[in-house]
Amino acid sequence: MRGLFITLEGGDGAGKSTQIRNIEKYFAAKGIKVTHTREPGGPPISEKLREILLDTGNTEMDAVTEMLIYAAARAQNVREIVLPAMERGEVVICDRFVDSSIAYQAFGRELGSMVAEVNRHATGGLSPDLTIWLDIDPEKGKARASGDKGPDRLDLESTAFHSRVRRGYASIAESEPERFKRIDASGTIEEIQGLITDCLDELCRSKGI
Ligand code: TMP
Repeated sequence: MRGLFITLEGGDGAGKSTQIRNIEKYFAAKGIKVTHTREPGGPPISEKLREILLDTGNTEMDAVTEMLIYAAARAQNVREIVLPAMERGEVVICDRFVDSSIAYQAFGRELGSMVAEVNRHATGGLSPDLTIWLDIDPEKGKARASGDKGPDRLDLESTAFHSRVRRGYASIAESEPERFKRIDASGTIEEIQGLITDCLDELCRSKGI
């Protein structure tokens, strides 16, 4: 069996980490092995690229440079972690994927259609079976963020930038409603978990799991 590929999207304070742990438990309860990775990051090479991308000192970074480094980190993650785990029949949960580049680089940085084109090469055309977008108003998210890691280089962008990012996600939700599920992340952890479980149940039913 080919495994499943599930990705999570959402800004600071949306509760992504907590919900990823719950998704892992959901599949573990079914006796299915789960591999967890993140973007930018995952394998050591991609984690090194993450440091460059999120370093608040890198104020000179050009938008195209940024987009290509995200794609480079992704190419390594796909080939070193995601595809091998899927070939072993596992469920792969990835914290962010191409949709982040569409939202932040195509919409936020206003780079447009080149972002999707570059990422087709980076991923070899791999697309998630399901993407959960934990949508929260950027200001509310900021207030709820744990603050344990401090803002990264992108977090420091303007409110206008983050509004464009959110519009980017909304546009993906509109064009790919089957794969890309918007979940209102302003509720409680339990409410969000319930909505995600409904999406997972539907996915498993459709795959006969
Ligand atoms: P994280 O803190 O959720 O790991 O996200 C890292 C930051 O990188 C976050 O501000 C979103 C940003 N990002 C992009 O701009 N483009 C991308 O393709 C990815 C994966 C993340």
